[in-house]
Amino acid sequence: MADRLEITSDLIEYVCQHGTRETVPLEKLRRYTQSLPEAEMRVPQEQGQLLHFLIKTLNAKKVMELGVFTGYSTLWMASALPEDGRLIAIDKRKDWKDLAESHWEEAGVRSRIDFRVGRAERTMQDLLAAGEEGTYDLVFIDADKKSYTTYYELALRLLRTGGIMVFDNMLRLGDVIDPAVSDPAVDDIRLLNRRLNEDDRVIISMLPFSDGLTLVLKTT
Ligand SMILES: C[S@@+](CC[C@H](N)C(=O)[O-])C[C@H]1O[C@@H](n2cnc3c(N)ncnc32)[C@H](O)[C@@H]1O
Repeated sequence: MADRLEITSDLIEYVCQHGTRETVPLEKLRRYTQSLPEAEMRVPQEQGQLLHFLIKTLNAKKVMELGVFTGYSTLWMASALPEDGRLIAIDKRKDWKDLAESHWEEAGVRSRIDFRVGRAERTMQDLLAAGEEGTYDLVFIDADKKSYTTYYELALRLLRTGGIMVFDNMLRLGDVIDPAVSDPAVDDIRLLNRRLNEDDRVIISMLPFSDGLTLVLKTT
């Protein structure tokens, strides 16, 4: 097997210092989020940079995020959008909305973000019913893992051809390759990983980055 780099925390620190441009509002929100008991839900800094990069690469104007939490990944994405860009950010918890919006306001991107409080599946169905099929450039999926397969089919409909879906937590901290782990949430991700690899409607790239990111390009 070709040599592969072992990723240490020192290397990640180096990547964050040399490979990301975290702005002052992003850093402030990251540090604030770090003080919360749910802090581990936030995407890491280098993943925020990748989402930002993808949005710029696609010239994206319409983006969706499932799972907002304090809005750190949202802020990375919204700051890559043009002034008239729109990010539909969906989370079932209203308390995250109030918290996230104050940080987005401070960062000057609040007007680009449309926070929808509610279940992701229902909200996606509502958007489809409202005629938004095939109109999104990028969908970032980071809500409840058990619904990922449902989100996949709905996001595939919402994306335009050439649009990209990004799934977080696709390696489940390594549990996907541990036969001793038979947690239904992990089994669902294993199934989805197999399915994505076999689905000829898409081209994928699975990255052993962060907790496993899969990029899905809609080709049909
Ligand atoms: C991992 S966190 C998102 C982290 C966020 N992307 C970030 O980087 O800070 C998952 C979020 O999904 C939300 N969530 C869980 N199940 C959901 C559902 N069925 N519909 C909408 N949101 C959901 C939770 O409230 C939580 O805020």
